[in-house]
Amino acid sequence: MLMRSVSFLFILLLSLARPVIAADNAPEPPAGLSVEAAMRLGEAMYMNGILPSGKPMEATVQGDLKVSSATSAMATCSNCHMRSGLGSYEGLVLTPPTNGANLYAPLLYARDLPGIVGVGEMAFENQRPAYMDETLAAAIQYGIDPAGRSLLETMPRYDLNERDMEIMIFYLKNLSSKYSPGVTANEVRFATIVTEGVSPQDRNSMLEPMKAFVKAEWNASVAGLRQWRPERTHRSLSLDVWELKGQPDTWYGQLEALYRRQPVFAILGGISYGPWGPIHQFCEKSRIPCVLPLADLPVISGDHFYTLYFSKGYYQEGEAAAKFLARALALPADKQLVQVYREDERGSAFAAGFGETWKKSGATAVKTRVLRAGEATGREFWKGLASTYKDAALVIWLGPADLAGIEELGAAKEQPSAVFVSASMLGSALSSIPDSIRDFTYITYPHRLPGEEALDVNNVENWMKYKKIPVTNMAVSSKAFFLTRMVSTVLSNLREDFYRDYFLDLFDVQGEQTMIVTYPRVTFGPGQRYASKGCYIVTLTKGPQPKIFSQTDWVIY
Ligand code: HEC
Repeated sequence: MLMRSVSFLFILLLSLARPVIAADNAPEPPAGLSVEAAMRLGEAMYMNGILPSGKPMEATVQGDLKVSSATSAMATCSNCHMRSGLGSYEGLVLTPPTNGANLYAPLLYARDLPGIVGVGEMAFENQRPAYMDETLAAAIQYGIDPAGRSLLETMPRYDLNERDMEIMIFYLKNLSSKYSPGVTANEVRFATIVTEGVSPQDRNSMLEPMKAFVKAEWNASVAGLRQWRPERTHRSLSLDVWELKGQPDTWYGQLEALYRRQPVFAILGGISYGPWGPIHQFCEKSRIPCVLPLADLPVISGDHFYTLYFSKGYYQEGEAAAKFLARALALPADKQLVQVYREDERGSAFAAGFGETWKKSGATAVKTRVLRAGEATGREFWKGLASTYKDAALVIWLGPADLAGIEELGAAKEQPSAVFVSASMLGSALSSIPDSIRDFTYITYPHRLPGEEALDVNNVENWMKYKKIPVTNMAVSSKAFFLTRMVSTVLSNLREDFYRDYFLDLFDVQGEQTMIVTYPRVTFGPGQRYASKGCYIVTLTKGPQPKIFSQTDWVIY
């Protein structure tokens, strides 16, 4: 692993710098439009396929097939050329950059294309001179490049009127044209976030691997490269720690102040036991990437871009339970279904994940038994529950203390037909689930199964030993370690293109990763904002040292 990231860095530095558009010949917006208005209209076309008139963009593909962005995401530029416009090279499919700096320069060498490194002066087979406004319009409208070559059929031909074409071209000229904030001649600045209440152990378990990566790994190699090749730019990294205090509703303001004091390029990781919402909102609004925070309560949304989560957290366990209950157990429509949880953020996240997923597949209405703050459980509670909801499926999102006395469910005349509990709620107390209910108890298990992770744990431990970092919380440190591997790869592929959207675009092309302790695999992909997509459902054997058996694959379809 270590060798791989170092050699990446090496290749990166062998490839020469790419053309950069001069900042002083800023393009003029189309007549009658401010820069902001033209950018907004251009972005709507480029990202969402919406014309300034509000109508969907139309195009022709494969010669005569008409497509509209109203019916196909394929018709939007960002879908293929990525949000940053810097294109991609994925599975041997090359989508060239489509930002001004690259279009308005001749394309001569393979090295000038995204994702292709270490090819020196190798000529690009589809060489072309620099575009001008007229030839660019011809490429977008008729698929002809300035060398007269007809572009591949994959590139749609867009039917744009003169005005809309002008706006599109203005947008492309500005796309990824100025470095994002947080980048100086010598340095790229990052921050990470720790919220109040996180234990010192967890805090250090996250911070130490990240600091070691920045100082002892990346910056140490940059120092060497600066001596070896002083004629090139080699940027070191810095990592600020942003501490958020007090109530979550004050975090947004604190983040604004921290950012104003010292802008950063992106936020790496971060840890909070509370809701990630305010941080999420800040990052989306300010368009700052936030990659792989350790958040159990992420924002669940289908249309955000800047925050890339490990998983949907508790919500995802709720989803998994609902899918399993609907598909594997096929809960009959006449059985009762009850969710039991505390009225707090955690309980609500589980319940939302379960409820929203169940609605799509299950027939039965979901009843709820919500415990108010201070309301206790205990033997009588469980007895009562079993007699109120006979032969029911009980989905119980509670911690070990609340489960005291739950063996009453096993003693009831009419036992529940199924019980669901969460491994992340129970933590190390899994085996405290009493024998008498194990036959019908299913556990959502959002991690690798015991034993499966040994090799990768070893990997992380060795690295930490080598960096002289004590291991106090492997679950936290291994995620931080994984984050540093991803960041190392992405920054190496980024070369000199320090644009935030490109940083995230590059995460999106990383595909499947299996060298991660916590999950069997995580996958990155365009538009995907939760990398780990699975959760096991497991059962326990009886006895004081129960074995864990998985009843499902990692991803439950
Ligand atoms: C379905 C995928 C797809 C979509 C959507 C798409 N493109 Fe392309 N585009 C390509 C591919 C692939 C090429 C390379 C074709 C070739 O070299 O023959 C390309 C080439 C180009 C080129 C020529 C680049 C060069 O260096 O010569 C421009 C300019 C361009 N696209 C702009 C756009 C714009 C603007 C949009 C949206 C209005 C768009 N594209 C939408 C796939 C796409």
